[in-house]
Amino acid sequence: MLTFKDKTVEDALLCPICKSRVEIIYENSGRLQCKGPKTHSYDFASGGYVNLGAPVQSGGGDSKQAVRARSDFLNTGLYEPIARKLKKLLAEYLTPNALVVDAGCGEGYYSELIAEEDGYALAGFDLSKFATDAAAKRAKAKGRANAFFGVASVFSLPLADSSADAVVNIFAPCAENEYSRVLKDGGLLFVVAAGPEHLLGLKKSIYTKIHRNEARADMPVQMKLIHNERLTYNINVEGNESIKNLFAMTPYYWKTSQNDVQKLEALERLETEIDINFEVYQKI
Ligand SMILES: C[S@@+](CC[C@H](N)C(=O)[O-])C[C@H]1O[C@@H](n2cnc3c(N)ncnc32)[C@H](O)[C@@H]1O
Repeated sequence: MLTFKDKTVEDALLCPICKSRVEIIYENSGRLQCKGPKTHSYDFASGGYVNLGAPVQSGGGDSKQAVRARSDFLNTGLYEPIARKLKKLLAEYLTPNALVVDAGCGEGYYSELIAEEDGYALAGFDLSKFATDAAAKRAKAKGRANAFFGVASVFSLPLADSSADAVVNIFAPCAENEYSRVLKDGGLLFVVAAGPEHLLGLKKSIYTKIHRNEARADMPVQMKLIHNERLTYNINVEGNESIKNLFAMTPYYWKTSQNDVQKLEALERLETEIDINFEVYQKI
């Protein structure tokens, strides 16, 4: 039985194949059916997500293991101040009935918290079916009927032009042109990204030579920056499993030699910096 039921999201969705509008059929576990001549149909999986990745884009994104590590770490609550700050910013800029797109939503920790505000309609997309499945299950467990989750690339969102009030982009690839296409005129893009000192303590426990994070290359260049804020605090990560989960969430996971990874094995407690940039851009 599908928990999701939200007309604002339904009206914004497009068939990824023929770009026609869609309707949601609530029979059995539910399906999304396009209104084009070929009536393409997409079944909701039992967890409540639907695969809207065009065939060439299917596959990719975070693995099952990476999704579980992220989920377990986020459930410790150590990143909750980031979620709270984001929600405060959303409340400052959006009206309660806004359509918010979570682009690269991962396992849905932030999406579920955004959907918690009565009124926002939430559409989360991720390239990873494991992440999208986890996100839908997380929202379903909380009974969020206003939260929709689909497998799709942020570079090709199954959404109509000028349909969204806001896009949130949290530690995920930033596809400015695509976000601009789906945003209404004056619509807002909220980018949450690692600041220079983010996870410095984690890096110190692995590497001998430490580099601060550099500015990302994919930040928006055409939209107008209207708000820029930094959140910094320290966390104590307790237990080796949590430390390894945090490490698995970072880009270093893929770049670190086995010798350096070994250094984490004996670690039971880690103190590290959290340094996050919150930027709000407006479509002009
Ligand atoms: C670092 S995780 C962040 C997830 C989530 N926003 C969070 O902060 O918990 C990055 C996510 O982007 C997804 N991703 C990577 N490339 C993508 C793309 N082209 N389109 C959609 N999602 C993508 C990955 O599968 C992963 O779930």
